[in-house]
Amino acid sequence: MIDDNRSGTLDGARGDDGGPTPPVSVITGASRGIGLALAHEFAAAGHRLVLAARDSASLERESRKIGKIHGVEVYVQAADLATAEGCQGLADAISDAGLEVDYLVNNAGGGQCGPFHEAEREKLTALVDVNIGALTDLTSRFLPGMIARGRGGVLNVSSLGGFVPGPNQATYYASKAYVMSLTEALAQEVWGSGVKMAVLAPGPVATDFHKKADAEHGFYIRFMGALSAETVARIGFANFMCGQTIIVPGWTTMLSALSLRLAPHFISVPFTGWLLQQREPPGNG
Ligand SMILES: NC(=O)c1ccc[n+]([C@@H]2O[C@H](COP(=O)([O-])OP(=O)(O)OC[C@H]3O[C@@H](n4cnc5c(N)ncnc54)[C@H](OP(=O)(O)O)[C@@H]3O)[C@@H](O)[C@H]2O)c1
Repeated sequence: MIDDNRSGTLDGARGDDGGPTPPVSVITGASRGIGLALAHEFAAAGHRLVLAARDSASLERESRKIGKIHGVEVYVQAADLATAEGCQGLADAISDAGLEVDYLVNNAGGGQCGPFHEAEREKLTALVDVNIGALTDLTSRFLPGMIARGRGGVLNVSSLGGFVPGPNQATYYASKAYVMSLTEALAQEVWGSGVKMAVLAPGPVATDFHKKADAEHGFYIRFMGALSAETVARIGFANFMCGQTIIVPGWTTMLSALSLRLAPHFISVPFTGWLLQQREPPGNG
């Protein structure tokens, strides 16, 4: 269930009773990293939030901070979005609380590093289930209401990796290509409806992501450098609200994305594989 965890002062704003209420934004993967930074951006703009992830303790701690800093209602839902039950539970809890979703941010995701044939099957399928499955499931649940109301939007978090196949992170890169393709197609479908549809495609970002994906020694991080989650979220939120469809934060990442769109795959794929190799930093032996 959605915890009664209002940290703000919006007593009359609970549920959507037809009166003027701040928009409701659902952000997945908001227990840390980019999702948490995006939650601060939406809250700073006065949105009521529903934050979802598996780690309920982090969600509750961060929701209290957000409520205190920005003075908005923040609800949390602990859910494993790699499962159909997790997605269904989130949707049911939102509906039971009488909330209509104005904005959906599909940010929850994870990576996998190493040759495909050496990877654990369960890890690969869980990656696909959250990076692709949950994003598709939740978008299909909430987009019809947004279109019917003629407002709101969906922000899907892809990656620079969505522009090119990624040897050594093959499943992750393929999942982000799906996110990119789906979002660009949906942006065309919803054009003129009043609903925003955007994909955020960051390069490396300084979060727990790389360690959790066993990629902390990936050469790409040293090669490109990493932006902070806060910078990515600030650029992502501002450009999403302005109606941009493909949002690539930072000049280096923008140039990389452009090069990857223009370069033939016989050059870009081996180059990307080379960047994605694991290498100990100099001095580590
Ligand atoms: N960091 C980068 O360099 C980078 C670059 C480009 C794109 N991205 C994308 O940005 C998004 C956020 O990544 P991040 O860097 O912020 O990574 P992160 O710090 O590891 O955060 C990932 C978030 O997703 C949640 N999550 C993961 N699996 C989940 C599941 N099965 N069910 C529910 N929530 C789940 C995690 O929460 P729990 O663990 O509490 O469930 C966490 O809140 C991802 O989609 C990632 O692919 C990251």
